[in-house]
Amino acid sequence: MRMILLGAPGSGKGTQGEKLAAAFGVPRISTGDALRAAVKSGTELGRRAKTAMDAGDLVADELVVGIVEERLSLPDASEGFILDGFPRNTAQSRILDQLLLKNHLPAVEVALHLDVDDEEIVSRLLARASEQGRADDREEVIRSRIRVYNNETHPLLDYYAKQNKLIAVPGVGGVNEIFDAIRLAVIAVESGLA
Ligand code: AP5
Repeated sequence: MRMILLGAPGSGKGTQGEKLAAAFGVPRISTGDALRAAVKSGTELGRRAKTAMDAGDLVADELVVGIVEERLSLPDASEGFILDGFPRNTAQSRILDQLLLKNHLPAVEVALHLDVDDEEIVSRLLARASEQGRADDREEVIRSRIRVYNNETHPLLDYYAKQNKLIAVPGVGGVNEIFDAIRLAVIAVESGLA
């Protein structure tokens, strides 16, 4: 399975991505996790990414593309992947297509959109802030991340819909219930019923 996860911050990409990766036996590749690890360990990449991340802006394409290029070249990604948080703008979606071609890997099969409304997102991420203290889970930054998502990432839904690869699943309700809905939608796409 070669799947990308699209959805606003807090829509459940990480939560569902873990379950999908386990179900399909492929790695979950999260650019957000990779960037946070780089910030934590104080690498050059982390230093360059931190200001944008703390403000809720997108990190420069060249920094995230490097992460994805390196990760996709590892052997465990040759059988598939769940890409969480990449691509996030039109340029990145084109770069991903080129990276897969360059590495002689098949194209993305499914783009999953987890649809969650803004107030549910704010409430989830404020709850996470009190538990985990993630630097970008402050209300003004959360709202800025939502704006960035709407301006930069939401247009990708159209990009993948035109290729008949988009599945949209409501991202509200129980985690297992959402996961079951995703699996049914994936089966429908794979069998040409969607
Ligand atoms: P990233 O780490 O990708 O963050 P995000 O998109 O803001 O998403 P989150 O991790 O906040 O949420 P999620 O959708 O994964 O939901 P989750 O499962 O965690 O990116 C962070 C930053 O890195 C970006 O702002 C940017 O600066 C930079 N970056 C990353 N990729 C980039 C790229 N390609 N280009 C440029 N910059 C990039 O769930 C959220 C919470 O909700 C959790 O507490 C969870 O337990 C809870 N939850 C999950 N499901 C449910 C449910 N069904 N009901 C109730 N609560 C739920």
